[in-house]
Amino acid sequence: MDVDLKSKLEHCLGEHAAPLSLPPQTYRDDQVVEEEIAQIFRRQWIGLGRADLVKNPGDYICLDHAGQSIILLRDKSGQIQAFANSCRHRGARLLDGAGQVSGIVCPFHSWAYKLSGELAGAPRMDERQDDLPSGFCKSDYGLVRYHVREHGGFVFICFDDNAPDFDAVIDGFDAFHAPWPIETLHSTRRREFDVACNWKAFIEVFNEYYHLPFVHPDSIDDLYLDPDPGDATTGQFASQFGSTEGTGALLQDQQEKPLPIMPGLEGRAAAGVRYTWIFPNMTFAAGVDALWLYEAYPITADRCHVVQTACFPPETIAQPDFEEKVAAYYERLDAALDEDIPALINQQRGLSNPDARQGPFQPLLEPNVANFAQWYAGKMLK
Ligand code: FES
Ligand SMILES: [Fe+2]
Repeated sequence: MDVDLKSKLEHCLGEHAAPLSLPPQTYRDDQVVEEEIAQIFRRQWIGLGRADLVKNPGDYICLDHAGQSIILLRDKSGQIQAFANSCRHRGARLLDGAGQVSGIVCPFHSWAYKLSGELAGAPRMDERQDDLPSGFCKSDYGLVRYHVREHGGFVFICFDDNAPDFDAVIDGFDAFHAPWPIETLHSTRRREFDVACNWKAFIEVFNEYYHLPFVHPDSIDDLYLDPDPGDATTGQFASQFGSTEGTGALLQDQQEKPLPIMPGLEGRAAAGVRYTWIFPNMTFAAGVDALWLYEAYPITADRCHVVQTACFPPETIAQPDFEEKVAAYYERLDAALDEDIPALINQQRGLSNPDARQGPFQPLLEPNVANFAQWYAGKMLK
């Protein structure tokens, strides 16, 4: 990393009285993306969305994110597993899409793997030649396995053999989110798309209140009161709660048909939204009636891949009018995105200016963004 970028990243660290936003280079330079993949995406715990991506034993989904191709599956014992989507024979891709399997068979030469990743069979590999033993041992050729954890109904993965301590990443998370039944929520909608902005910018805009009156004046701004100060966290996430008028999960002019409040929610939590960013790439809003979630992954410096997921309590989904009412919730998500995306594209254009500079944060309205910048600078400077 060049000296100039290093000194700019140091301005994002907490030691500074007024930490600055991340250096514009980190949003526009493809070399930085390579470094992010090496330092962050291949080393840290990464959020992969909701655990109900693979509900039952044998369910699998192939995920291709940040240059990494994985198979996420649930094995026979109900454990979630993550494997490199690459055969141990000569590397062929093993699976595509999503579905149910009882094992994995490579389409090239039919090596067969169990759901646990062990190699179960490899045609003719134990044959001898010229009376020499083959030396082939199936137990040497299990799939490349990654660390994977479920927490609060979310899935996390780490590609590094020496994964950082997951408990430290998630330290304090449960206390902040205890009022919401997040673990038992079901995903009802999952959508993937690309956006012409840096992956960090996509998650940043989701986490800050500052832009609401200017980017969302007629859609959602009226719902959000000034938030509480950002929470002091010990784990690798930022979180901020704010009260709302009505539900933050519906447009301001469509508040009349809300879905029920989540079971068990009470007090201030039953009249507000908690925005949490689990570093680096997953963020969600826990509202009174719904939880909506985004993952963002780098493609290039100025382009990212985004996954949107909407979740509701099973009790809500079981209501006879759920399908009818949920449409307005999806409409609110899409309407806010339709306003955020042009703002993000415009920000990306500005950040591409060689004379773009780092700037100060508004402390009450952008603390999650400031906390991430600090975390990111710390990881990139290591
Ligand atoms: S590459 Fe998979 S069996 Fe040959
Ligand atoms: Fe927004």
